[in-house]
Amino acid sequence: MTEPVLQDLFNWIDETPSPYHAASNACARLADSGFTVRQPDDHWNDLEKVVVKWGGTVIAAAFSPKINPDFLRFRIVGAHTDSPNLRIKPKPEFGSAGYQQLGVEIYGGVLLNSWLDRDLGLSGRVVVSDGDSHETLLFHSNQPLLRVPQLAIHLDREANEGLKLDRQMHLSPVWGLGDSKEGAFRSFLADELNVSATEIVSWDVMCHDLTPSSVLGLDEQLYAAPRIDNLASCHAALCALGSLDTLPENTIAVVALFDHEEVGSESSTGAKGALLSNSLERFATARASSREQYLRALNRSFCVSADGAHAVHPNYVDRHEPGHHVALNGGPVIKVNANVRYATDAESSGQFQAYLKSANIPFQQYVHRTNLPCGSTIGPITAAQLGMPVIDVGSAQLSMHSAREMGGAHDPALLTSGLSAFFAFD
Ligand code: CO
Repeated sequence: MTEPVLQDLFNWIDETPSPYHAASNACARLADSGFTVRQPDDHWNDLEKVVVKWGGTVIAAAFSPKINPDFLRFRIVGAHTDSPNLRIKPKPEFGSAGYQQLGVEIYGGVLLNSWLDRDLGLSGRVVVSDGDSHETLLFHSNQPLLRVPQLAIHLDREANEGLKLDRQMHLSPVWGLGDSKEGAFRSFLADELNVSATEIVSWDVMCHDLTPSSVLGLDEQLYAAPRIDNLASCHAALCALGSLDTLPENTIAVVALFDHEEVGSESSTGAKGALLSNSLERFATARASSREQYLRALNRSFCVSADGAHAVHPNYVDRHEPGHHVALNGGPVIKVNANVRYATDAESSGQFQAYLKSANIPFQQYVHRTNLPCGSTIGPITAAQLGMPVIDVGSAQLSMHSAREMGGAHDPALLTSGLSAFFAFD
């Protein structure tokens, strides 16, 4: 039987094909746990638990019943809602050799080959207008609509010696036969959303693999799913915040799930923007804190940046730092990089290890191989924005940035417990 946390993770991933669904579903999940959903321009004062979304980004906070503004501190978990994928262009229809195709842009660091020969659905958000007012509608179709067919081996005898894919030429999905019709994609969206094609103004729509998340392996110790990076961390953060029954005094527990991490975080809703610092200040001043008290509070605060970590790959052991192999089901991974691609330092690591030890949760330490360039996260960005200690942690996984990734079946529960211990630590 699938562990309850893992089954809930599968439900979350399968109902969350886009960052916009992540933000919207996060609000719905937290509302079920007693959080009040508010608009960004509403008052947020006098709420014990509040959640707010902006497009594909969501920020939620739970307040201790007793807060003295002179001793206020934040406990923050940050993660990201976006994953690398293929995104539909504004004028997508074109045809070639009797096929109807859609033009796509490549979003983020996609493992391009992983999108070949998969049945793809579509999701995202669509702006509609009746002439007077605009409205944004979420859109999610699990109908098998698109496919990027790979070239047969007989027509590319070199394919197994190093597949070369041109982003413009080779990744356009097929979605029918016959002549390409201008406006066909708009008409498809209109039918799906039950509006007229002329009402559709614009869209942010992307492809997703249709295979549902599942347990994997002889003893069901593994799982396979799309978007593990980073919906698994979002899920752990939401479960930890949603199930919190008591918070230590003077504490505001915050979960911030950002869009656009995979493309550098520089946007109105990305981690490089003002949303988190503005929100923290609003949370603080909602409890009668002055700006000076808020700025002092940042110095008592701590942030956990949660994102995927590289498990050692059995077929490519030589790509990993030999002294820092990370195992699936080995518990949360503390990620270290001397050049601050990860925000962890000795002090934030020591502090986070204390949280894990308080709940008897095992942990591992990751360092990237020194002769390979290391990836990064929202950790260093958040540390720089807030001037706050940050640690980079995550669950171990394989196939990072593939259309379908894999992880250890017990890690989601271990990361969730780790983040719960962080929020509850006195
Ligand atoms: Co990530």
